[in-house]
Amino acid sequence: MSQWVLPEYTEAGTTHTHVTLWLITLIFDYNLHAALAFGGGDQTLKHKGESAGQCLPGVRPRGEITDLTHMKRSFSLVDVLFLLLLVLLTWVAMGRSHCKAANSGDIRPHSVTITEFGAIGDGVTLNTKAFQNAIFYLNSFADKGGAELFVPAGRWLTGSFDLISHLTLWLDKNAVILGSQNSDDWPVIDPLPSYGRGRELPGGRHRSLIYGRNLTDVVITGDNGTIDGQGSIWWNWFRKKTLNYTRPHLVELMNSTGVVISNLTFLNSPFWTIHPVYCSHVTIQNVTILAPLESPNTDGIDPDSSENVYIEDCYISTGDDLIAIKSGWDEYGISYARPSRNITIHRLVGATPSAGIAIGSEMSGGVSEVHAENIHLYNSSTGIRIKTAPGRGGYVRNILVSNMSLAYVDVAIKFTSHYGEHPDEFYDPNALPVIQSITLKDVVGDNIKYAGLLEGLQGDNFVDICLSNITFDIINSAENPWNCSYIHGYSNLVYPQICEPLQERIYPEHYSDCYHLSNHLCSSSKQNEGARLLSSSIVSVQF
Ligand SMILES: *[C@@H]1O[C@H](CO)[C@@H](O)[C@H](O)[C@H]1NC(C)=O
Ligand SMILES: *[C@@H]1O[C@H](CO)[C@@H](O)[C@H](O)[C@H]1NC(C)=O
Ligand SMILES: *[C@@H]1O[C@H](CO)[C@@H](O)[C@H](O)[C@H]1NC(C)=O
Ligand SMILES: *[C@@H]1O[C@H](CO)[C@@H](O)[C@H](O)[C@H]1NC(C)=O
Ligand SMILES: *[C@@H]1O[C@H](CO)[C@@H](O)[C@H](O)[C@H]1NC(C)=O
Ligand SMILES: *[C@@H]1O[C@H](CO)[C@@H](O)[C@H](O)[C@H]1NC(C)=O
Ligand SMILES: *[C@@H]1O[C@H](CO)[C@@H](O)[C@H](O)[C@H]1NC(C)=O
Ligand SMILES: *[C@@H]1O[C@H](CO)[C@@H](O)[C@H](O)[C@H]1NC(C)=O
Ligand SMILES: *[C@@H]1O[C@H](CO)[C@@H](O)[C@H](O)[C@H]1NC(C)=O
Ligand SMILES: *[C@@H]1O[C@H](CO)[C@@H](O)[C@H](O)[C@H]1NC(C)=O
Ligand SMILES: *[C@@H]1O[C@H](CO)[C@@H](O)[C@H](O)[C@H]1NC(C)=O
Repeated sequence: MSQWVLPEYTEAGTTHTHVTLWLITLIFDYNLHAALAFGGGDQTLKHKGESAGQCLPGVRPRGEITDLTHMKRSFSLVDVLFLLLLVLLTWVAMGRSHCKAANSGDIRPHSVTITEFGAIGDGVTLNTKAFQNAIFYLNSFADKGGAELFVPAGRWLTGSFDLISHLTLWLDKNAVILGSQNSDDWPVIDPLPSYGRGRELPGGRHRSLIYGRNLTDVVITGDNGTIDGQGSIWWNWFRKKTLNYTRPHLVELMNSTGVVISNLTFLNSPFWTIHPVYCSHVTIQNVTILAPLESPNTDGIDPDSSENVYIEDCYISTGDDLIAIKSGWDEYGISYARPSRNITIHRLVGATPSAGIAIGSEMSGGVSEVHAENIHLYNSSTGIRIKTAPGRGGYVRNILVSNMSLAYVDVAIKFTSHYGEHPDEFYDPNALPVIQSITLKDVVGDNIKYAGLLEGLQGDNFVDICLSNITFDIINSAENPWNCSYIHGYSNLVYPQICEPLQERIYPEHYSDCYHLSNHLCSSSKQNEGARLLSSSIVSVQF
């Protein structure tokens, strides 16, 4: 197994799952119905929300897996199956710990220290050449298991530099990489094809401090070392409108796979802080991202036209959205057609004058399968936000946010459908976004001003918006806590009382409309024993 697959339950989990399903299929082999049912095994996994709907009689999930409910089986068969699952789960657990051991071997067979290349950690000497030379040297180890560039304690001033595949950039405790305050040290590169131009100004954009393109297996980690963009000079150029090109990110990886960013602190990015674009298999774990609340556009993490992104245990407090999921801008994003999907966010904590988790406003390539849970936001303007506009096209669908707590947040949930900001006059005002299947459940909020400002588009309703078990303590009692337009959906257990277009209760026949809610509600109802056993085993194997 390759080294970069950090979350033990990703690739390994999938393999075990397939083997598990295969073995279960063998057991059931003499039952024709069962064999048919498991022919769609992959589908069972990918659409858990839908397949679990079958636990209620009379509810027919979409897809061809309904045969499961009609399986004939004997007690002894269930017993055997149960035993087998126990054995398998133990085996999977052992497999995981084995993988963990193998992966803490992110240890590369070769390592050099930046000082070997003449770097001086005095905070004054510019070390761009040292970083470039060290990485150029380490390139010769790429096919020998890769190499590590060790950055010891010190203040290492540098301009933008380029990473390579099979590299670990390791920042020791008290190591600080400092971004140069001379804009010439941040070369100008082409705009992203999915944006058509720089995000702030037409033309190119400054390259990020730490940049990588077309890479595989790259790790940026350490013992809570720091990468400090010293962005204040850029914020001032932005405010005074003296920029010639769009501001740089602190870290950008483009068209790369197998990226891990962990155990570090990121400070004062000139623009968005961590920007994976056209990437896949990106893990961002246990990082702290800080910038002043008044710094312009210092988003925390912006997965952009990227898939299989896993963000866990992060503390973020910056001047703009903590996490903003994007996929290109208007006609450029539509024609590049590269969506963001399968984005997982666990245990995010933070504060922002903008949104905790935003989708958009650039979402023209589409955004789907975003799963966020255990989120705590305080002293923020917005909790969850979807930003779009006519001209964006694209879609936002299959979004689940659960177990979120908010404190001192102005607007808990906000959908903005006239965000504006177009790359040029050639966007198509008839390209309307599709916003569908958004579920929020188990949310509490204290000291909230507005529960929800949910604005869809005339002639383009936002649909299947499902809210379940949501309680907000509203401090702004004079005004209506919910303001909804051009939207339709369902709700259960929402306080204060929700707006009319979402008042319809969530009954079993809506489970296929309400993304992932069926799982949730099923668990409390009486259900088919075999189906429960199977679905719970699939869930525990996968997570
Ligand atoms: C979703 O992404 C995770 C990594 O974050 C990966 O393990 C998983 O296999 C992906 N799921 C699908 C359905 O591709
Ligand atoms: C992405 O990277 C791969 C190699 O890693 C390369 O073959 C491909 O052309 C790159 N695509 C783009 C659009 O940069
Ligand atoms: C990445 O791949 C693209 C497409 O093949 C190529 O044009 C570009 O030069 C590559 N860039 C780097 C830095 O390798
Ligand atoms: C988070 O990072 C800190 C410092 O780098 C480390 O001590 C801690 O063990 C990490 N926690 C996890 C869960 O990785
Ligand atoms: C890492 O350092 C930052 C600031 O230097 C600090 O706020 C954070 O708590 C540290 N993280 C851990 C896990 O020690
Ligand atoms: C913009 O260009 C002008 C003229 O070349 C230059 O003097 C100025 O320093 C540039 N500004 C930035 C922020 O790079
Ligand atoms: C973060 O640091 C902790 C403590 O050193 C280590 O156990 C963990 O594996 C690291 N995580 C990553 C993703 O590098
Ligand atoms: C909900 O999230 C909080 C952190 O915000 C966590 O402490 C708690 O265990 C989570 N609850 C569940 C049921 O996962
Ligand atoms: C939130 O902001 C208030 C001031 O508006 C401050 O007193 C409080 O400490 C902040 N909360 C946290 C957790 O930082
Ligand atoms: C409702 O959500 C809260 C957390 O916000 C959770 O503790 C509680 O168990 C949930 N209730 C139900 C019925 O799921
Ligand atoms: C509801 O929000 C719209 C903007 O979407 C605003 O124009 C309208 O005044 C608001 N209505 C109320 C009653 O607050």
